[in-house]
Amino acid sequence: STGVSRGGDGALSVAGVDLRELARTHGTPAYVVDEADLRRRARAFATAFDAAFAESEGMAGADVYYAGKAFLSLAVARWVHEEGLRIDTSTAGELAVALRAGVPGEAIGLHGNNKSDDEIRTALAHGVGRIVVDSLAEVGRVAALAREAGVRAPVMVRVTTGVHAGGHHFIATAHEDQKFGLSLASGAARKAVDEILAHDELELVGLHSHIGSQIVDLAGFAVAARAILGLRAQVAAETGHLAPEVDLGGGYGIRYTGADDVPPAPEQIARTLADAVRDVCTELGTPVPRISVEPGRSIAGPAGLTLYRVGTVKEVALDGGGTRTYVSVDGGMSDNIRTALYEAEYTATLADRRSDAATVTARVVGKHCESGDIVVRDVALPADVRAGDLLAVPATGAYGRSMASNYNLVPRPPVLALGDGEVRVLVRRETVDDLLALDLG
Ligand code: LLP
Repeated sequence: STGVSRGGDGALSVAGVDLRELARTHGTPAYVVDEADLRRRARAFATAFDAAFAESEGMAGADVYYAGKAFLSLAVARWVHEEGLRIDTSTAGELAVALRAGVPGEAIGLHGNNKSDDEIRTALAHGVGRIVVDSLAEVGRVAALAREAGVRAPVMVRVTTGVHAGGHHFIATAHEDQKFGLSLASGAARKAVDEILAHDELELVGLHSHIGSQIVDLAGFAVAARAILGLRAQVAAETGHLAPEVDLGGGYGIRYTGADDVPPAPEQIARTLADAVRDVCTELGTPVPRISVEPGRSIAGPAGLTLYRVGTVKEVALDGGGTRTYVSVDGGMSDNIRTALYEAEYTATLADRRSDAATVTARVVGKHCESGDIVVRDVALPADVRAGDLLAVPATGAYGRSMASNYNLVPRPPVLALGDGEVRVLVRRETVDDLLALDLG
């Protein structure tokens, strides 16, 4: 995060808090969030989209939804809402946190390819702004539940545009052969639209596209926008219903290692999307819709780091000659599954001291019973890295805590918010007693 600095003795501070002190008081591993940095990233999106899609620009406005799956807690929901964002949820849990944080229902969206009746009922009861329908069967289910609740449900259709984009294939979502959305090519998306228009209990508020995650090249968004705006124009011509809104999803990439590509800033993202939307609508002769987007990683990711304590250090001989230093930390794949799951790349840095030692090729690994339990595959660390050192792994604010598990019955780390030299526990550390409390024998 931008609040990281290194003191004269080499120790890292975040937002004025010395990480050595933090580790002493709160233990390790710990997720650390720089509140000001996260807020700034949220605000930057709101400001950029407000400017690029302003009515003075011939546009119809824009909304930014923070994708809660990246990391959601009561405080984070409040922060992003205070900075002008809405919240995108995909489960009853995320929905409950957003509502409990005081975010009004109309500023919340609900996604999910397999929503339960309870999830849909809760969304309707709280008047969520949109339910993003992900299958033909769901159209009838939402209609029936809306009738039961005596409300009209605002729905969007999740359209699979066929655009390939993003990092690892597990996180690309708009090609045909995967579970999300309704295919544009096969006509399923259009069928869903027609069925929605035929139901009095449903109001078609828009069309939705999400093409993938960790995307640094914006070209795919323009292609997806063209496809989805084309569907909107076709529906308007044939049914007279012009969908008021188009959501272009999230997926903007971040830097993980500092050696990776520089991702576009919110201003550039907003400008590029605005230009694409304007051009396509002009070509199609349709008014521009209100636009929404759903960034998660690009808001929470860079604002967070994970602080670990080093335990065992081992040097292992490599087949081709040379050695690799295995640096074991007190967490691992239970607090960051992304390296194992996506071959994601991270870096790590000594957080408690300066070292003038030459560097060695190191691999930061966890404490789990699995050889794939890797936190950082390759990183140059000082050769004197030793038990007791603190290691910081940057850019873990998104999809770290939110994808954490209790593998090997390891309790999940706390989330600590830092700001103005103060520490605030957002989510407390789990204990073995917490885990035992679930076990009824
Ligand atoms: N909107 C929808 C409909 C999504 O499915 C996602 C992510 C987002 C927004 C937010 O995408 P973001 O801006 O955070 O990239 N757990 C994986 C990524 C899977 C994301 C799934 N959907 C990871 O750790 O990289």
